[in-house]
Amino acid sequence: MIALAEDTEAKVSACENAVGQSLTSQQSRPIRPLPEVMEAIESCASLPLEDAVTTPPEAYTSEEYYQWEVTNIFHREWQCVAHVSQIPKPGDFLNLDLLGEPLIVVRGKDESVRVLSRVCPHRGMDIMPPGFGHEGHGVAEARGESNCGHTRLFLCPYHAWTFELDGKLKACPEMQQARGFKRDDHGLMPFRTEIWRGFIFVNFDGQAAPLAERLSEMNTDFGDWHSEDMHVIIEREWDCPFNWKVLVENFMESYHHLGAHAKTLQPMMPARDTWNEQERDSYVRCHLPFKEALVAEWEAMEKAGGNPFGFPTIQSLADWKKKESGLFLIYPNFLTFVLPDRVVWYRVQPMGPHRMKLLTTMLVPKSTTEHPEFPEMLTRETKMLIDFHLEDMEMCTAIQRGMRSLGAQQGRLSHLEMSVWLMQRYLAARGRGSWPGQDRPAAPAQR
Ligand code: FES
Ligand SMILES: [Fe+2]
Repeated sequence: MIALAEDTEAKVSACENAVGQSLTSQQSRPIRPLPEVMEAIESCASLPLEDAVTTPPEAYTSEEYYQWEVTNIFHREWQCVAHVSQIPKPGDFLNLDLLGEPLIVVRGKDESVRVLSRVCPHRGMDIMPPGFGHEGHGVAEARGESNCGHTRLFLCPYHAWTFELDGKLKACPEMQQARGFKRDDHGLMPFRTEIWRGFIFVNFDGQAAPLAERLSEMNTDFGDWHSEDMHVIIEREWDCPFNWKVLVENFMESYHHLGAHAKTLQPMMPARDTWNEQERDSYVRCHLPFKEALVAEWEAMEKAGGNPFGFPTIQSLADWKKKESGLFLIYPNFLTFVLPDRVVWYRVQPMGPHRMKLLTTMLVPKSTTEHPEFPEMLTRETKMLIDFHLEDMEMCTAIQRGMRSLGAQQGRLSHLEMSVWLMQRYLAARGRGSWPGQDRPAAPAQR
């Protein structure tokens, strides 16, 4: 684990305390029934951007609406669970619980990546419940900090059934008297999986359109970072006392650089210059141009052999991609931002209307990890990633408290919050059984 600077440690522990308090905070605002909440979202979404208002508070607080999202959004869409570099070798695995589903993401002996249920097909035991089933329990060894490990096979600790890395039942003691029992019928359940640009996605209902098809347009833009060849070099997990959309909206609008990041991001990427591309059915793309004076300074620095962005600049990027940062949201909750030297990916695990788990990660090309000054770069950039995320954690935690309170109002949106409005239009479209821009005209780009 990288040692954090003292001030960052102090801020992290203050944040953890605030999270603990917020998780037990009260709902004082009455919550309307589901049909009224859906109608309120539809009515926001049908306003033009110039008239846009904020999303109704119940979208962030209603248990009923959250359950609607689970069934109609999360189970039907692709959810990103890992990056290929987190499980590089056969036998490497990563555990996570997604929407109540205990999952293993594992690389098999054939090098294929699979997402399997951790629920034992015998009596339903989670074969590796959190904090159990790694070291000292069976054959798997823990590795790293993010519920990763390495194993030859999986062992259910309850009655010692064992499974191959592809989920097939390998052995089960004392089952010879069970009439008609066939091992092939009793494996760990696989979920539909697709790898896109190195990111591993899962689809619970098995019906989603192939991702590569849906994202062909994004591929020509985001593809320039070659995230499939990158390595996750920093990962940090956060327990978040807020709705998943609070985070997605916060990530995707840069209006809040003016307040939350006034000293960190605003001087580099002023809110006023940020803009959104046109509405699309599967993703949102925002541009955050760097201040011109800084670009000139950084170009000079680079010519002199320096690394203006912290890590070496990715030389294959088009020139304009070295002059800005970019944000992408693949609906509903894949978040990434790109810089000229890295990709930052946030893994979002919704856990209820008021809670989610977040993994913040950073990815760089392999060549960066081989740079002689990489250890120092890593320490510095880890601090940076945590420091500015803490600024967002503070805001998001306080927003969720606001959404639960009697004082919550539906405010107005700035044009710089187009992503919040696009999110409303996505939710409303899913409510109509459609996709953004398919049964209504798509909104134009801001430039
Ligand atoms: S529940 Fe897994 S072996 Fe019995
Ligand atoms: Fe932020």
